[in-house]
Amino acid sequence: MRFRSVQLSMRFIVPLALVLALFGYFAIPWMENLTVRWFVRDLDTRSQLVSSTLQQPLLNYLEDNDSARINDAFSRAIQDERLYALAFCTPDETLLYKTDTYPVSLGCSQGADGEDASPVVQLPRGPVHVSSRELTQDGISAGRLILVQDMSFIERRSEDTKKYIIGLFVVLAGAISLITVLIAHLSWHGWLNGVREMLRGELSPRPPGPMSPEIAPLASELRALLNEYNRDLQGSGVESQTWGADTLKTLLNQDLAGDEILVVSNREPYIHVNTPNGVKVQRPASGLVTAVEAVMRACSGTWIAHGAGSADRDTVDANDHVRVPPENPSYTLRRVWLSKEEEQGYYYGFANEGLWPLCHIAHVRPVFRSTDWAEYVRVNQRFADAVIAEARSDNPVVLVQDYHFALLPRMVRAVLPKATIITFWHIPWPNPESFGICPWREEILDGMLGSTILGFHTPFHRKNFLDTVDRYLETRIENEASTVSYGNELTQVKPYPISIAWPEPAPGECDVAACRAEIRQALSLPADQLLGIGVDRLDYTKGIVERFQAVERMLELHPDMVGKFTFVQIAAPTRSSLDEYQNFEARVRALAQRINQRFSSGSYLPIILKTEHHEQAQLRTYFRASEVCSVTSLHDGMNLVAKEFIAARDDEQGVLILSQFTGAARELHEALIVNPYHIEEGAEALYRALRMPQDEQRERMRTMRVRVRDFNVYRWAGRMLQDAARLRQRERVRSRINSLSQNRVRKGDA
Ligand code: G6P
Repeated sequence: MRFRSVQLSMRFIVPLALVLALFGYFAIPWMENLTVRWFVRDLDTRSQLVSSTLQQPLLNYLEDNDSARINDAFSRAIQDERLYALAFCTPDETLLYKTDTYPVSLGCSQGADGEDASPVVQLPRGPVHVSSRELTQDGISAGRLILVQDMSFIERRSEDTKKYIIGLFVVLAGAISLITVLIAHLSWHGWLNGVREMLRGELSPRPPGPMSPEIAPLASELRALLNEYNRDLQGSGVESQTWGADTLKTLLNQDLAGDEILVVSNREPYIHVNTPNGVKVQRPASGLVTAVEAVMRACSGTWIAHGAGSADRDTVDANDHVRVPPENPSYTLRRVWLSKEEEQGYYYGFANEGLWPLCHIAHVRPVFRSTDWAEYVRVNQRFADAVIAEARSDNPVVLVQDYHFALLPRMVRAVLPKATIITFWHIPWPNPESFGICPWREEILDGMLGSTILGFHTPFHRKNFLDTVDRYLETRIENEASTVSYGNELTQVKPYPISIAWPEPAPGECDVAACRAEIRQALSLPADQLLGIGVDRLDYTKGIVERFQAVERMLELHPDMVGKFTFVQIAAPTRSSLDEYQNFEARVRALAQRINQRFSSGSYLPIILKTEHHEQAQLRTYFRASEVCSVTSLHDGMNLVAKEFIAARDDEQGVLILSQFTGAARELHEALIVNPYHIEEGAEALYRALRMPQDEQRERMRTMRVRVRDFNVYRWAGRMLQDAARLRQRERVRSRINSLSQNRVRKGDA
C-alpha cells in the first residue's frame, strides 16, 4: 500500500519537478541577461555623470597645458571603486593622457565607432564597460574622454541573483508538488473507494455504501473499463491455449458452471433410414454437422434438429429424443418433425432458394416468395418452442446454427431473456447492397440481433454483416469492441473460424501405401496412376465445373499426363428436388462425359464421377490415396474438406489446391491458392501439384497440419463459449451494479 502511495506521489512529483526544472533552465539565463542589461544602462548613466563633472576642469587644464593637474584629476576620479580607468585622446586619436590602469590595448579606437558598438569589452582581468565623451569648446572638438568602468561587481551580483532565483524555484516546486499530491491523493482515495464499492457490491453479500458523488457520473465508463480489463485478461490466454475435448469440458464445468448446452440446426447429426436390410444410421454430408458433432460429444446437452430420415420417427422416445452417437451415446438428439409444406417453404424455398444464393457469390439468382417466408417464420417459431421446451433453466446456453434460423434467436430471447444465445453463420455474409435485395432484410437482421454472440468464419464476413446492420437498422456499432447495440440489447459480433476435430488414427486404418493400392484397385487403375480427389456436395457454389475445366486444360497443355492422371470427384447428392440443383447435376455429368470422351483411350477415363454418399472413413482412404486434393469453391464460408484432407495426410505428402474464395484460404497459406474462375491458373496449379518434389510437399503439409491440429474445432467452440461465459459474468456484474444504483435512487427519494 505504502509502495503504491510512493508510486502515486512520484507520478505527480516527477512531472512537476520536470516542468519546473525546464522553467528554471530557460528562465535563469533570461533573468541574468536582464540584470546585466540593467547594470549596463546604469553604467552608461554613471559615465555621463562622471564625464559631465570632469568636462569643464579638463578643458581648462588642457587649455593651460597643465598635465600635472590633468593626471591628478584622473587619479582622483578613479578612486571611485567602479571607475577603473580614464584616458584622453586628441581629435587625431592620439592617446595624450591616461591613468596607469588604462589598458593600452584599448587605445583610442574604443567608443569612436558610434553608439551601436557594445560598451562591454572583455579584458584578461574580466569584462569592463567602456564609454567615451567628446569634449567641445565653443563648438570645436578638443578631444575625447574615455571612461572604463569595472564590471566584476555585476558578475558577483548576477551570481547572487541566480542563487536567489534557483532557491525560489525549488521552494515553489516543492510547495506546488506538495499541494498537488495532497489534492490528488484525496480525490484518488475517493475514486478508489467508489470502485471498491462497486466491486464489493458484486463480490460480497455485504450491502454497499453510498456511491461517492465524484464517481456517479463516471460509473458507466468505469464499468466499461473494468469490463475491458476483464476481457483482456481472459482473452490473453486464448491464443496460446491448446484445445481438445477435455479443455472444452473443463471450460464448461468451470466457466459456465455446468450450464446446459442446447444446439439447434436444421440438419441432424444422425439420420435413421429404412433399408432393405433394416434400419441404418447415416452421417450427413455437412461441414456444420461434422464440426458441431465433435463439440457435442465433448459437451453433452441436447441437439435439436429436423428429423428427416425415413426411420427417424421409429427410433425416438415419447419426447422425440434419441441418445447418440449410437455406438457410444453421450448427448441427446431431439427431433422436430416438419410437414411437406413446411419443409418445402422453409428449407427448400426460403433457406436454399433465397438465403443460400443471396449469401454466396455464385451468380445464381435468389428467389424470394412470400409463402416461403411465412413457412420460414413458422418453422423458426417451432424450433424456438422446442428450445424453450428443452431448456431446464431460464438461462441456458443456446448454440444456433446457420441461415436456417435467422429469426430464432429473437424468438428464444422473447421467452428466455437471460439465455446466452450464440448464433453461428456457417456461410458467407454478402455486402449490404447484395443483402438489401432480400425483401425481409430488416426482420432477418432483427432476428439475428436477438443473439448474445454472433459468429462468422472470417473478419471480412463479420465486417459485411456490421455494414449491413449499419445500413438497414437503427443501431450503435462499436467497431473496436465489435458490438452492436440495438434496442436495449448488446450483441457481440466476432469471427470464429471453424475447424475439425484432429482425428486419432482409426484402429485398422490402412497405411498410406495400402490406401493407395486399395483405391487404385477399386477403381481398376494402374498402381502408379496419379490421382486427384474432390469431395463436395453437388452444389453450384463448389466450383466443380471449373475444376473439371481445369483438368481438361491441364491435359491439353500437358499431354504427357493423359493416361497417367485421373481425377475422382465424389459428389454427395444434395437439395435434389430444387431445379437449380438438378440443372447443376446435369451440367456436371455432361461436362465429365465430354472430357472423358475427348481423352479416353482403352479403359482410361480422366474423370471418375461418383455421385453418391460416402462415409467419413471411406473419404479418408481417398484422401490418403491421392496426390492432390482440389477445393475450388466459387464462394465458401470455410470449407472443411480442405482441413480433412490435411488431417488425413500423416505421411506429410499430398498437395492441396485451394480456392482463394474460401474461408480456409485465409488460414492455409501453404496450399496452392487459385482463382477457380481462371481455368489456366487452375490447370497449371494441378500440373505443378502433380510434379511437386516430395520435400516441398512435406514442408507445406507439415506447416498446414500444425495449424489445423492447433486451430481445431474445440478451439472454435471454446472461444465462443469462453466469450459467452465472460458475457454471462459481465451480465451478472452489470445487473448487480444496476440494482445497487436503483437501491440508491430509491433511498435518495425516500
Ligand atoms: C452447408 C450449410 C449447412 C448444411 C450443409 C449441408 O454446409 O452451411 O447448414 O447442413 O451445407 O446442406 P444440407 O442442406 O444438406 O443440410
